[in-house]
Amino acid sequence: MRSLNEPIRDWRRRRVWIVGASTGIGASLAHALLRAGARVALTARSAAALEEIARAAPDDVLVLPADVTDAKGLRRAHDQLMARWEGIDLVIWNAGTYTPMRAHEFDLDAALHTLDTNLTAVYNGLSVALPTLIRQRQGGIALVASVAGYRGLPRSLAYGPSKAALHNLAESLYMDLHPLGVSTYLINPGFVRTRLVARNDFHMPALIDPDQASAHILEGLAAGRFEIHFPSRFTRALKLLRLLPYRAYFALVRSYTGSDAAPAQRAHDALR
Ligand SMILES: NC(=O)c1ccc[n+]([C@@H]2O[C@H](COP(=O)([O-])OP(=O)(O)OC[C@H]3O[C@@H](n4cnc5c(N)ncnc54)[C@H](OP(=O)(O)O)[C@@H]3O)[C@@H](O)[C@H]2O)c1
Repeated sequence: MRSLNEPIRDWRRRRVWIVGASTGIGASLAHALLRAGARVALTARSAAALEEIARAAPDDVLVLPADVTDAKGLRRAHDQLMARWEGIDLVIWNAGTYTPMRAHEFDLDAALHTLDTNLTAVYNGLSVALPTLIRQRQGGIALVASVAGYRGLPRSLAYGPSKAALHNLAESLYMDLHPLGVSTYLINPGFVRTRLVARNDFHMPALIDPDQASAHILEGLAAGRFEIHFPSRFTRALKLLRLLPYRAYFALVRSYTGSDAAPAQRAHDALR
């Protein structure tokens, strides 16, 4: 069967813009791509962390600090990249944030911040990257979403919907961009040991390290997959859960996560 996207196996001199490159999966991807011979442009808010990565290969790295929620700053970063490299072979949109949130702890500011960072900012990115990719009729864009976007989960009132929207967005992009010669990749990691999940106080099944995550991503890109999900021992089970009717899905998730009415009841009692 033909792959859905152009397989990327040879990274030498490829121009990759990693947005959300300062820590975790993004930083690990930057190191892996540099080792494979790519040129990488690094964007995140923490300029010092980006400079630190650049030290490994100063000639092949562009440091372009920006806040993804600031559309003008992002455009400046894009324009600087184009002025230096005159094109982009792959955008990896990896920036994201996570605040666990349940209904009885609803926090509007935190919810809107999550949606701004994980979803609205992607549109800031598309507004600068799409014209370039379409003009080139070559290259691709990879959206890092999450398996948390497959179905509703406890503690995920803002994060889950922000990532579910990226699934839908990537599918729409694929259908528009593929005929134009531009690839779209949807990256759905399971649990990865980064600062993002450091606050999780529950057992995270099949937890992997950022270097394992970046290896899975490069493997998926080399195969030209549309959806790159990992680790498969975890993500295959989650994909099966997608097929369950609601009654069975709610019961199974509740029994696995132990998520019941007790915390909400305790919060309610404390308020009385
Ligand atoms: N860890 C997991 O288990 C897991 C699972 C599924 C999906 N993911 C997704 O994987 C991606 C990477 O997460 P990670 O686990 O590697 O976490 P991380 O170490 O916290 O990395 C998040 C990255 O996003 C950047 N970022 C956040 N807000 C930003 C903003 N407003 N402007 C620019 N950059 C911003 C951060 O840089 P600055 O703070 O320097 O700006 C950092 O480089 C996220 O999209 C996350 O949702 C993670």
